Amino acid sequence: MAKGDGKYISKEPDAQGNRAYTAEEHLVWRDLYNRQEKLLPGLAAQEYLDALEKLGLPRDRVPQLNEVSATLLQHTGWQVEGVPALISFKKFFTLLEARKFPAATFIRLREEFDYLQEPDIFHEIYGHCPLLTNKIYADFMQKYGEIGLKVAKEDRAMLARLYWFTVEFGLMKKPEGMRIYGAGILSSVGESDYALNSGIPEYRKLDLVDVFRTPYRIDIYQPVYFVINGFNDLYNLVKDENVLLDAIREARSLGEHAPKFPPKEAGLQAVGA
Ligand SMILES: [Fe+2]
Repeated sequence: MAKGDGKYISKEPDAQGNRAYTAEEHLVWRDLYNRQEKLLPGLAAQEYLDALEKLGLPRDRVPQLNEVSATLLQHTGWQVEGVPALISFKKFFTLLEARKFPAATFIRLREEFDYLQEPDIFHEIYGHCPLLTNKIYADFMQKYGEIGLKVAKEDRAMLARLYWFTVEFGLMKKPEGMRIYGAGILSSVGESDYALNSGIPEYRKLDLVDVFRTPYRIDIYQPVYFVINGFNDLYNLVKDENVLLDAIREARSLGEHAPKFPPKEAGLQAVGA
């Protein structure tokens, strides 16, 4: 679902399903891994940290998708499938419904170490895959894909908002404080700190209609985060598709919230002024 600008090229697998990475690409993975490992205790949800341990990713090289799939299969029956950066909604939902997580296969350049708009393999594997070992989270993801295949085409953007504000940028309120479970934050060093410690973003309790009414931008730190209490909350959002479809209808009739950010063009002009 991400847009690419052509800077990164998807890696093709060989006959055994393995992809080749250069020594520098392995070092980028190692350095990203080490940095997030130091940063995330106290910021990431314990469920994520436990899941990361369960997944047992290599630290000093880019993992192969097959080895990640082998571990996921044992835990929840999920797998990872390599895809180009840009795939259709239909393909995206079809893969999720089949318990296959679509993953970009290139890794970011060192000059974009801190932030890149396109999802790279570090974001996909380190950010997304650990929680796919968590049963309730894994079931939520599959059900989300199943519903995605059923909604009208014009409602797919609403479902994209639900994914954005949970799977990518979700926060969880725990007895020990606010914690991160969204992959978009977990794989970004700048946003992990900003989301919890800056005092800037607004936190809202997750409500389906509210999420469906909230526009977002992919190229800025988020001005608003939606908060859950646990992964049961996520599963409850999708367990009855009629409730979800009603919420889409209600959101449509109420209309979109005014964005809490300037439109992209206006923002860029403001920066230049
Ligand atoms: Fe993602």
